[in-house]
Amino acid sequence: MGNSTIKTAEELAESFREISIAEFFEKNRHLLGYENPTKALITVVKELVDNSLDATNEARILPEIKVNLKQLSENRFKIIVEDNGPGIVKEKLALAFGKLLYGTKFHRLVQSRGTQGLGASGAILYSQLTTGKPTKIVSSTGKDIHTYELVIDTVKNEPHIINHNSEKNVDGWHGVIVELEVEGRYIEKEQSVLEYLKQTAMTNPYAKIIFNGPNGKFVFDRTIKEIPKQPKEIKPHPHGVEIGILRRMLKYTKSRNVSSFLTNEFSRVGKNSALQICKLAKINANTKPQNLSHEEIERLHKAMQSIKLIAPPTDCLSPLGERLLTEGLKKETGAEFVVAVTRPPTVYRGNPFQIECALGYGGNLQPDQQAQLYRFANKVPLLYNQSDCALTEAATEVDWRRYNFSQSQGQLPQGPLVILIHFASVWVPYTSEGKQAIAKYPEIIKETKLALQDAGRKLGRFISGKRRLLEAQQRRGLFEKYIAEVAEALSKITNKSKDNIKTKLETMLKKENIIDEAIKETEENGENDEENRTEGKD
Ligand SMILES: Nc1ncnc2c1ncn2[C@@H]1O[C@H](COP(=O)(O)OP(=O)(O)O)[C@@H](O)[C@H]1O
Ligand SMILES: [Mg+2]
Repeated sequence: MGNSTIKTAEELAESFREISIAEFFEKNRHLLGYENPTKALITVVKELVDNSLDATNEARILPEIKVNLKQLSENRFKIIVEDNGPGIVKEKLALAFGKLLYGTKFHRLVQSRGTQGLGASGAILYSQLTTGKPTKIVSSTGKDIHTYELVIDTVKNEPHIINHNSEKNVDGWHGVIVELEVEGRYIEKEQSVLEYLKQTAMTNPYAKIIFNGPNGKFVFDRTIKEIPKQPKEIKPHPHGVEIGILRRMLKYTKSRNVSSFLTNEFSRVGKNSALQICKLAKINANTKPQNLSHEEIERLHKAMQSIKLIAPPTDCLSPLGERLLTEGLKKETGAEFVVAVTRPPTVYRGNPFQIECALGYGGNLQPDQQAQLYRFANKVPLLYNQSDCALTEAATEVDWRRYNFSQSQGQLPQGPLVILIHFASVWVPYTSEGKQAIAKYPEIIKETKLALQDAGRKLGRFISGKRRLLEAQQRRGLFEKYIAEVAEALSKITNKSKDNIKTKLETMLKKENIIDEAIKETEENGENDEENRTEGKD
């Protein structure tokens, strides 16, 4: 080794340089979901459509979203996504799209699809990285129409506007159109743009989505016309706040003293609880938040965790509900029987969340394969990283043999079954920025299992009812088949007319209503099932 490779601290000091977030993701695009051309195409469409759904939701507009995907060459695509949302004011437009970690959702606790402000700008970064082309954005809030062409200056993490013009808006159009070119690969099976849109339609039945792809047009029409109520924004709950966050909040709060800081910035803390927390932490409630010492903040944090408080409010959540889930799954899978369960909201690390699930069985579903799992977080389909996800873990931990399915250890059950799970929360703990899997918090796994077990029991009852029905029909068929022979034998013994006996036997069979009895019997058995009492408590 030559001396030239040895560096002194002083020499090294000259290499120090700040890294912009845009440069970081330019080198680590896989962290945003751009690790291969197929996934990249899905991610771009997903980020833009998610934004359109978020924006129309907040503005209380029934969404109509057009997705155009044009193949330019073997691995080059033009993507245009247009919505009828509120649009973006011109002062913010370039920043919203041309700056990473810039958005309207991160600092609010509200159930939405996007959060970090990395979605649209991430897609633009990927576009310019693989094609070198600027992105075109057209937007109007109902007034003038603005068109921007921009790229991201990655060293500065700032938009660099190449072109901007505005025109009069004659018909009052409002919304956003994003047009960009990317490297990608288009397929239509399994993990694909089409599958993402299909699953999106399943959990967003009030949206109309029109997809113009390389192989033609697909329209996902809305099946309901009401927009779900906009979930409320909430403040953090004291039980979920981490000490580092608390410290930051104390530093920047506008509240004059600790007591008002607690009541203003947290949910479920009234004057009394605030005073109680201060007392427990041995802090004067009138202290200026910025004047708390290191030790005092630690004591405050501890007191906030240990005091009894009402759980956070749950009107910040917007579940789909059992009716929507049932209709959505039936429509998209053609299952014969669908059962849905929406659990009551609960909490992980102070964040309210809610699990719902639906099971689809029979009909168009293939009998001899592993059940298909559809995972959703805040109504967004998760197509990748299935095995890293808390929802998958819960689905494989459920003992499906209790509900008449075969299942190998640690696997999903076998059979004509689809399992849909929806996780709704003000904060989705994704395992990475690619946002494809939910972190395995024990509270989340437990709730998901409870939902699946509840739905599983109902499905199990349907399946065993169906099996008994089939058996009863077979018995009846068998009897019917031999009716002529039985009649003949009886007529010989009794010396009565064979035809008379045959007619009598046939009427008897009709009256015997075996089917009704079989159904009743299964229902009664279902109610008294042993597992009903034991399960769900583990
Ligand atoms: N189609 C749209 N209509 C209205 N606003 C939008 C639209 N797309 C993006 N925005 C705004 O731009 C911001 C940045 O978008 P994005 O980078 O995807 O971040 P995120 O969705 O995580 O907040 C959003 O927070 C939103 O305020
Ligand atoms: Mg977004």
